[in-house]
Amino acid sequence: MASSSIKCFIPYIFMLILCHFNVIQARNDQLSTDFYYYTCPKVFDIVRDTVVEAIKNETRNGASLLRLHFHDCFVNGCDGSVLLDDNATFTGEKTSFPNKNSLRAFDVVDIIKARLEKACPLVVSCADILAIAARDSVYHLGGPTWEVKLGRRDSLSANITAANIFIPAPSSNISVLKSNFHDVGLSFKDLVALSGAHTIGYARCATFRPRIYNDHNISPPFVETLKSKCPQVGNDDVLQGLDLRTPSHFDNYYYKNLLTKKGLLHSDQEIYNSNKADPIVRKFSRDLSKFYRSFEKAMIKMGDISPLLGTQGEIRENCRKSR
Ligand code: HEM
Ligand SMILES: *[C@@H]1O[C@H](CO)[C@@H](O)[C@H](O)[C@H]1NC(C)=O
Ligand SMILES: *[C@@H]1O[C@H](CO)[C@@H](O)[C@H](O)[C@H]1NC(C)=O
Ligand SMILES: *[C@@H]1O[C@H](CO)[C@@H](O)[C@H](O)[C@H]1NC(C)=O
Ligand SMILES: *[C@@H]1O[C@H](CO)[C@@H](O)[C@H](O)[C@H]1NC(C)=O
Repeated sequence: MASSSIKCFIPYIFMLILCHFNVIQARNDQLSTDFYYYTCPKVFDIVRDTVVEAIKNETRNGASLLRLHFHDCFVNGCDGSVLLDDNATFTGEKTSFPNKNSLRAFDVVDIIKARLEKACPLVVSCADILAIAARDSVYHLGGPTWEVKLGRRDSLSANITAANIFIPAPSSNISVLKSNFHDVGLSFKDLVALSGAHTIGYARCATFRPRIYNDHNISPPFVETLKSKCPQVGNDDVLQGLDLRTPSHFDNYYYKNLLTKKGLLHSDQEIYNSNKADPIVRKFSRDLSKFYRSFEKAMIKMGDISPLLGTQGEIRENCRKSR
């Protein structure tokens, strides 16, 4: 009697399991702001506290974290691929032209990940850590904030060739920049808005040297100061704020600088060089909240680039290594 009623329930239980599985699948098949609501409720506190601590240690860390998310998303989507270390049998993206001797704050990501592994082991992806840390960095340097979508999974590999091709170079003209952004589904307006990230952080002499010795659309007093810091030969690693005035504050001085030909990189000044970006730059330089709203929107779009979902990829234990 008992055994036959259990038998009757078996198809039921099976269906329940199926349904439940479907629900989980549906939840995992797209990004959502409450992805870790049950599985890691402290995720936002842990990332925010660590970002605040890192910025307190050195304000530049905020800029470096924002840039990591960008360099992650532009290469096969936001999948944490930028964080994988090289080893004897594996070449990651860290030695690509745009990244080598340039990307930083990997140590901060390690600290965030270690704290998350303690609170909720093998739950939060490294790709999501970068998305939250980028958002929190902007906010804690005085910028806007937004609801960050989560649920990305981590790649099992990386692609140095793709990093060299898809991450825009500072020598790029406006057409090349436009097509780099178009390749990952971002619009011309997104390009101008996201370039505003250069209102924080620093560039090396080696990166802005071609601009100060070759370009003519550069302010004469500005170029003289830069030449004294960054000679034709040597001082490659000397740093200059991308925003000469407030490199630790997420404001719209980046655009104001462009209006007076004080963009630091060739690619920066291309955004204000007698083309269709000009009116957008003037608008963002005049209206801080228009810049903020466009930046928020574009960051969410950038964070949506080809995520790994559901059972694709993995959740890494250590952001530097796939399992
Ligand atoms: C539009 C095309 C872009 C180009 C050509 C470009 C290029 C560069 C270059 C060459 C540097 C300095 C690297 C060095 O000298 O070591 C830099 C720094 C930086 N970039 Fe971009 N970038 C672009 C867009 C973006 C975007 C979309 C973001 C973020 C949303 C971003 C965020 C940053 C930040 C925050 C820094 C400073 C990093 C630090 O101080 O550690 N950039 N970028
Ligand atoms: C801040 O600096 C201290 C002292 O060097 C270091 O121990 C700590 O790990 C740093 N924290 C972060 C989040 O970078
Ligand atoms: C790496 O990216 C390049 C450029 O997109 C592509 O041609 C190549 O097939 C990729 N390699 C792998 C192993 O996916
Ligand atoms: C922009 O740069 C690309 C690649 O260097 C070049 O082919 C193209 O002609 C340039 N476009 C303009 C408008 O200068
Ligand atoms: C080398 O790195 C890759 C990618 O993180 C990883 O899958 C592999 O296990 C690593 N090999 C060794 C020997 O650690």
